[in-house]
Amino acid sequence: MISKQISLTSIKQTEALASAVGKNLVGGECIEFVSDLGGGKTTFVRSLVSAAGSKDNVSSPTFTISKLYKTPSMAIYHYDFYRLSDPGLAAEELAESVEDKSGVVLVEWGQNVQDVLPAKRVIVKLSKSKSGPDVRLCSIECPSSLEYLFSGADL
Ligand SMILES: Nc1ncnc2c1ncn2[C@@H]1O[C@H](COP(=O)(O)OP(=O)(O)OP(=O)(O)O)[C@@H](O)[C@H]1O
Ligand SMILES: [Mg+2]
Repeated sequence: MISKQISLTSIKQTEALASAVGKNLVGGECIEFVSDLGGGKTTFVRSLVSAAGSKDNVSSPTFTISKLYKTPSMAIYHYDFYRLSDPGLAAEELAESVEDKSGVVLVEWGQNVQDVLPAKRVIVKLSKSKSGPDVRLCSIECPSSLEYLFSGADL
């Protein structure tokens, strides 16, 4: 199991970490992103999706709740439950995405769907730092079964 805190001192560092993880995806993984507004969750997702081999445009799904990206080998489901106190149907859709063991599930603002998320997931927390506007403190919690996602990452 990985439990680590690192400092990402530039957008490039966040993108490098996200790309390393994206290259290691094989399907069946779930990553939950936790941060305040503008913490860098979608920025992380964008590089991860691109490194996984998708040419699809990643934008914040805040208004659509979910987006689907395709790579040559897998589907990547991107959810954003911001301000959704009752996730309702969207939570059911999330549950179906989690069931798709060939797909990857990425979740922002998932505090109200915790019971739907798999226990075996990576949790990436990003927080802003007083050291500078482009600095993010990043905490990674990753079960042993998903540690391969961070191989090649500079942790
Ligand atoms: N080290 C960094 N890592 C990630 N983003 C950074 C970093 N430094 C600055 N930023 C900037 O912070 C902003 C993060 O926005 P982003 O949409 O990724 O955050 P978010 O957590 O998805 O926000 P929201 O809660 O609104 O969904 C972007 O403008 C990005 O360029
Ligand atoms: Mg976002």
